[in-house]
Amino acid sequence: MSDFVSSFWSGYVAVITLVGIIGVALFVWIVTAGQAARKGKADVTGHVWDEDLVELNNPLPDWWRWMFYISVAFALGYLVLYPGLGSFKGVLGWTSHKEYREEVAEAKKQYEPLFDKYLKQDIKAVAADPEARQIGQHLFLTYCSQCHGSDAGGATGFPNLRDNDWLYGGEPENIQTTIMNGRNGMMPPFGPALGQDGVKAVANYVLSLSGARHDAALALKGKAIFATNCAACHGPTGTGNQFIGAPNLTDKIWLYGGSEKAVVETITKGRSGAMPAQKDNLGEAKVHLLAAYVYSLSH
Ligand code: HEC
Ligand code: HEC
Repeated sequence: MSDFVSSFWSGYVAVITLVGIIGVALFVWIVTAGQAARKGKADVTGHVWDEDLVELNNPLPDWWRWMFYISVAFALGYLVLYPGLGSFKGVLGWTSHKEYREEVAEAKKQYEPLFDKYLKQDIKAVAADPEARQIGQHLFLTYCSQCHGSDAGGATGFPNLRDNDWLYGGEPENIQTTIMNGRNGMMPPFGPALGQDGVKAVANYVLSLSGARHDAALALKGKAIFATNCAACHGPTGTGNQFIGAPNLTDKIWLYGGSEKAVVETITKGRSGAMPAQKDNLGEAKVHLLAAYVYSLSH
C-alpha cells in the first residue's frame, strides 16, 4: 500500500472500502427492517404451484441478521487495528516485515548456541553426530538440493556429492572451502583451435582413458593433441587436477556425460560450471554443518 505515488489513490481505495462495508450494513438494515415489523406472520411471494403450493417469504432469523452486523463490526475494527485502508498503517503498527524479523530473531536465539557448539568441533566429529547430520540435511534441502538434487546425487553439470569422486577434493577442508567461497570450473572451448577432426580425435582419446568404446586409430591421433592442449590441466595421464577442478578423465564418472557426442560438445564449446559462494548468504556456522553433512555422505 505504501507504493502509491500520491495520497490520492490511497484515499480513493480507502473510500471505496468504507463505502462498500457501510453499504452492506445499510442493505441488510433496509431489507430486514420491514420484515421485523411483521414478525411471526408469514408473508407470501404470490407464487403458486400445483394449485395450493405457495412460496413463503419469511424474515431472516435474528441470529442470521446479527451475524451480518457482527461481520461488519469486525471488518471495521480490523481496519482500525491493522493495515488495510489505503496507506493507513493501523493503530497496532503491525507489518509482515516486522513479524518476519521477529521470527528470524527468535529462531536465531534458539539455534545459534547449537550452531556455535558445532562450529567449535572438528568437521569429522560433527559428521559423526546424528543430530548435526540431520540439521545439515535440512540446510542442504533448503539451500543446495535445487542444483545437487535432494539426495545429493547430482545431475548433468552438477556433481554427485555422494560418491568419492571429487573435482576439488573430498577432505573436510576442501569441501568447506568449496561451499564458503564457491568454485568456477573453466574448461576452455577448443572447437576453433582444433577443428572438427581434431576434436573428434581427442574425444576418442578421452573415451579410451576410461575404457569406453572408441575408435582406436582416432584415439592414437588424439593422444598427441591431448599432450599439447589438455595435459596442463587434466594431467599427462588424464587423472585431473583438484586445484582447478579439472575432472579425472580416467574414471567412468562424467560431469557432462560420457557419450562421444557429449564429450565432443564439452571439448568444442568448453564448460564453465559455477558453484555459488555461500559465505555471505549462510555464514560460517551453517557452512560448517553443511560441510560435515556432505562429508558424511561419502564417508
Ligand atoms: C546454482 C546451483 C548450485 C547450488 C545452489 C549449489 N551448488 Fe554446489 N556446485 C554447483 C556446481 C555447478 C558445481 C561444480 C562446479 C564446477 O563445475 O566446477 C558444484 C560443486 C559443489 C561441490 C564440489 C564437488 C566436488 O566434486 O568437488 C560441493 C562440495 C558442493 N557443490 C556443495 C554444495 C552445497 C553444500 C550447496 C548448498 C549450500 C551447494 N553446493 C549449492 C552448483 C550448485
Ligand atoms: C585450463 C584448463 C583446462 C584445459 C586446458 C582443458 N580442460 Fe578440460 N576441463 C577443465 C575443467 C576445469 C573442467 C571442468 C569444467 C566444469 O567444472 O564446468 C574440464 C572438463 C572437461 C571434460 C568434462 C569431463 C566430465 O566429467 O564431463 C572433458 C571431457 C574435458 N575437460 C576434456 C578436455 C580436453 C580433451 C582438453 C584438451 C583439448 C581439455 N579438457 C583442456 C579444465 C581444462
